[in-house]
Amino acid sequence: METPVIVAIDGPSGTGKSSTSKAVAAELGLSYLDTGAQYRAMTWWMLSNDVDVDDPAQVALAADKPVIVSGSDPSAPTITVDGADASGPIRTAEVTAAVSAVSAVPEVRRRMVELQRAAAAQAPAGIVVEGRDIGTTVLPDATVKIFLTASPEARAARRGGEIGAKAAADLAATREALIKRDAADSGRKTSPLAKAADAVEVDTTELTLDQVIECVVTLIEEKRAAR
Ligand code: DC
Repeated sequence: METPVIVAIDGPSGTGKSSTSKAVAAELGLSYLDTGAQYRAMTWWMLSNDVDVDDPAQVALAADKPVIVSGSDPSAPTITVDGADASGPIRTAEVTAAVSAVSAVPEVRRRMVELQRAAAAQAPAGIVVEGRDIGTTVLPDATVKIFLTASPEARAARRGGEIGAKAAADLAATREALIKRDAADSGRKTSPLAKAADAVEVDTTELTLDQVIECVVTLIEEKRAAR
């Protein structure tokens, strides 16, 4: 049997990570893992259980408590927390505003990295894992590492489209929130958002989603052929 292919896709929000990762996994018959959804699920549990998310000591103490389970099918991604469907609640503005603080806590990251490595080890044909620290920390031996980027304007427009922001003021606010979250994710001490030295950087600003997917699939096929 062919060795499983492990694909790490990192980058800031609004670069097309999720859409690209799901499509690539579906096209190549691989499993899929959205690690951002796991940090969001942890954050949702903390907010629902009155943990003060701005107090790292409280967050650290609670980090082992929620049972977070992610599905691996790229065409129907699922996530549950203590058995309850969390796919809706993890996308609320409240969770988005709190997730950087929660994901900066080392105990939270330790727990998530364990879950993520276990998912990769169990994927029969291989897996596409998207996040911020996959190529640098979670799966440093990944077969292919991609780092997606895009201009802040393009990222805000994509995120704004997802959340239904139409007015220029909404887009400006989305852009500010996004830049703030990226700065927090890039500036934290434990495994910040960063490009691995051996990752291929793809600037998606001027590319359509189909072009990004094609580019990533080609990179994976080249690596597969070379080994
Ligand atoms: O991809 P996303 O926007 O759903 O991720 C939500 C947050 O989770 C993001 O602001 C930072 C955090 N995150 C992280 O710290 N490490 C990862 N591997 C993935 C996400």
